[in-house]
Amino acid sequence: MTGLPNKRWIGAPIPRRDGPAKVTGTAPYAFEQPVSNPLYLHLVQATIARGQVTVIDTTAAEALDGVVLVMTHENAPRLASDTDKELWVLQSVEVAFRGQIIAAVLAEHPEIAHHAAGLIRVGYQQQPHDVDLRADRDDLYPPEILMGGGHPDTTHGDVEAALMSAAVTLDATYTTPMEHHNPMEPHTTVAIWTDEGLTLYESTQAPFRIRAAVASSFGLDERRVRVVCPHVGGGFGSKAFPHASVILAAMAAHCARGRPVKLSLTRQQMFSLASYRTPTIQRVQLGADTSGRLTAIAHDVVEQTARIKEFAEPTAVATRMMYAAPNRRTTHRLAALDLPVPSIMRAPGECPGMFGLEVAMDEMAIACGMDPIEFRIRNEPDVDPESGLPFTSRNLAVCLREGAHRFDWKGRDPTPRARRNYGWLIGTGVASSTYPVFRMPGSTAKIRVSADGRYTVAIAAVDIGTGTWTALAQIAADALHVSLEDVELQIGDSALPRASQAGAASGITSWGSAIVDAALTLLTRLERDHGGQVPQEGLEVIGATPDNPYAEFYAMHSFGAQFAEVRVHEDTGEVRVPRLLGIFAAGRVINAKTGHSQLLGGMTMGLSMALHENSVLDPRFGHVINHDLAEYHIATSADIGSVEVDWLDEEDPYVNPMGSKGLGELGIVGTAAAIDNAIYHATGIRIRELPITADKLLR
Ligand code: MOS
Repeated sequence: MTGLPNKRWIGAPIPRRDGPAKVTGTAPYAFEQPVSNPLYLHLVQATIARGQVTVIDTTAAEALDGVVLVMTHENAPRLASDTDKELWVLQSVEVAFRGQIIAAVLAEHPEIAHHAAGLIRVGYQQQPHDVDLRADRDDLYPPEILMGGGHPDTTHGDVEAALMSAAVTLDATYTTPMEHHNPMEPHTTVAIWTDEGLTLYESTQAPFRIRAAVASSFGLDERRVRVVCPHVGGGFGSKAFPHASVILAAMAAHCARGRPVKLSLTRQQMFSLASYRTPTIQRVQLGADTSGRLTAIAHDVVEQTARIKEFAEPTAVATRMMYAAPNRRTTHRLAALDLPVPSIMRAPGECPGMFGLEVAMDEMAIACGMDPIEFRIRNEPDVDPESGLPFTSRNLAVCLREGAHRFDWKGRDPTPRARRNYGWLIGTGVASSTYPVFRMPGSTAKIRVSADGRYTVAIAAVDIGTGTWTALAQIAADALHVSLEDVELQIGDSALPRASQAGAASGITSWGSAIVDAALTLLTRLERDHGGQVPQEGLEVIGATPDNPYAEFYAMHSFGAQFAEVRVHEDTGEVRVPRLLGIFAAGRVINAKTGHSQLLGGMTMGLSMALHENSVLDPRFGHVINHDLAEYHIATSADIGSVEVDWLDEEDPYVNPMGSKGLGELGIVGTAAAIDNAIYHATGIRIRELPITADKLLR
């Protein structure tokens, strides 16, 4: 692999190129795409968690002025493929979860569609449902593979024997709740079906995945489906996969015969139709010798999936590579429940799993009488304990030490309840962060240079608010050895050269590598065929993401250390977090401004996870009762104190030509554990169940 020698733009804090359009309201999000004479779609959702629709009376809705069509399982177009049951919308009487789409109204105005949807009368044959996630269920099963491809179970050595003979042991169970994605822009589709094919303006992280799902659902040639997404108002994983709403909108567009159909999920509908982070129950067992060296690590996870479609959160996967111990075990078991389908949410696996592991590490450090930073450093592995491969770079210890220095950790009295100020107990905590470096196959980029020296870079990448519009232009400018102003970028359209998703923190690695490949081809061709001069007619080349030749020889991960200072009120249990500090080692950061924002956003979301986020399920009805932003609390400015973000100048020549490792997920990993550990230090109360609410501190 050729690294990029010239790094003039990479690393610079270039302001977002799409910033002016966004702040002036001229950046078109999916729902705002100007289309002529649209119709509006509104959904009707099942009010039972399991059973069948026996009768559905649409007479009153259809009689309403402005209603064009009421779609139910009785009259909806038949879909071509039922391989994905989540997308099998309006095809049968079966109800598999509360909130499932059972009808939809297409009308001239959104208000009419909404009103008409409320006039539809539905009768059900109800069956008993089961939405109870417990670790002692007798029907738990191991999935064949975890999301991301990992095996559900791994074992090295003899964990039980090592735990029996360990000088110090810990056996604790940690739980994380169901959490919902709440990007500012909801899941939205504008669908137009004409003789030429289907165009979708979609709020998505993965236009090619949407295209493939829609084409397969309708038996269409993929070339007849176009997905356009120039600006996306946030995406934490729910927009990385297609959900039923896009299929429904396409279906309605088919019925609308050329008229555009607009569908935007309401915030409440997002809680049943846009996936969620699965709740987890994690038993962590650790054993250590008298010097604080881990001899055994076991992480056994029980988590939820849906009856109609399996999703296996890779919760304990990070535990496989974080710390050294000769005896190791991880397992994942699923309960298939009558609930909506879970999916990926910012750092799926690492985020909930590192809550369990990093709180356990804090508890174990205390049990060993060691400082939690020194305990982690003592258990640093020389190589990836799972694969035996060396790390391309692993600077966890450097992050921990640098953070400790900036956080004045040295003078910290480890005794709980040692600091108090006017009724507030004060504590500090630390936890590690990590995330793998993923490279998705199959991205291609086209670069065209015109005689006037302008470069156009085209790739169907997506900017979900992360800074793609700017970062990819920076990579192209450095790869082409030109000024940033000379590079025009085209992204957000499946008509552009194929690209992988904005997800798994893989975008910059995958797309950037394709752009660098195209740039090298262009420079070679210019030199070889045109004497270094751009020909009059210009020159155009295609590049692709190459396989990483180092992938089979190295383990590739980013790392970080997060520090939290908390105040807990002795009388009320109120928790404040005046200070968070994150020091990260994630290779080269492409854009210091947008990269900083990504990590800051991740840590903010981590604080939100620690203290607030919790989708409360009513087991009697099988639905999330706090299904809006009034009751599903997300951290706002008032909840956030100082959040400091910094990173090491990490050189990693093996991950990709840019030397970058990805920042989208790393920031949220470990934050909740750092806060939890700080709360223990402040109060002496160990909370093993997220979120950490006041009631738990007053028990
Ligand atoms: Mo990220 S959970 O892959 O959008």
